[in-house]
Amino acid sequence: RKRVLKISTGSKQFDAILGGGFATMSISEVFGEFRCGKTQLSHTMSVISQLPKDLGGAEGKVAFIGESASLNTEGTFRPERITQIAERFGLDPEQTLENITYARAVNSEHQMELLNKVAEYFVNNEYRLLIIDSIMALFRVDYVGRGELNERQQKLNQFLSKLTHVAEEFNVAVFMTNQVQSDPGASALFAGADGRKPVGGHILAHASATRILLRKGRGEERVAKIQDSPDMPEKEATYIITSGGIND
Ligand code: GTP
Ligand code: MG
Repeated sequence: RKRVLKISTGSKQFDAILGGGFATMSISEVFGEFRCGKTQLSHTMSVISQLPKDLGGAEGKVAFIGESASLNTEGTFRPERITQIAERFGLDPEQTLENITYARAVNSEHQMELLNKVAEYFVNNEYRLLIIDSIMALFRVDYVGRGELNERQQKLNQFLSKLTHVAEEFNVAVFMTNQVQSDPGASALFAGADGRKPVGGHILAHASATRILLRKGRGEERVAKIQDSPDMPEKEATYIITSGGIND
């Protein structure tokens, strides 16, 4: 029988509000403004996922779908960051990188193709974490304006259905990053205390079992706040970003 596992964030305080970390067999979403640590958290969890269960890991491989709308720029995945984070946890950097399947999506259709491809790897391999960094960026580039919103949401729904299926079928934690709307106050729905709300509308809100708002705190501090959780109260935790990844 499949059992839900929790993958640590790298920060004890952050883990505590999550009841141990981000869960397998469901979809979690972190959203927040630029530089709040969404991609760094993705990298940290890509390493921790590989650790033994008693150290906050899930003893599993990782698929990382990063986004880059421009062919000329790198995606969001940085192998050199994985190397540093692996060292913090005493893992062999080369081996750690080998356990991460990285793909760069250049448009939303490609993102779906890559998801289908990595899902095939899950059949015969022990993958425990699937990262989508970021879920809405390419959809927002490909579908612009009110007139295309219906079609965008339809395609997004297909993508999220596949993610839900993959999470449950293969006991994988799906971890998505998301952006915030640039016009806070446009709608109070889904808005955090400070007015920031994720993009993606009702369809994304419905698909994410766990939703976390990330924001900058005092100095180097960052704050995570639970917005939505099946079993945890709406608490806050602080964390920092270090060369070894997310930490207390
Ligand atoms: P966007 O993708 O732009 O929306 O931002 P994000 O939320 O993904 O931010 P990201 O995870 O890229 O975090 C960026 C922050 O991490 C910056 O404040 C960097 O200074 C910090 N950071 C990145 N790498 C390192 C590192 O090696 N050491 C330390 N100390 N900080 C780092
Ligand atoms: Mg990022």
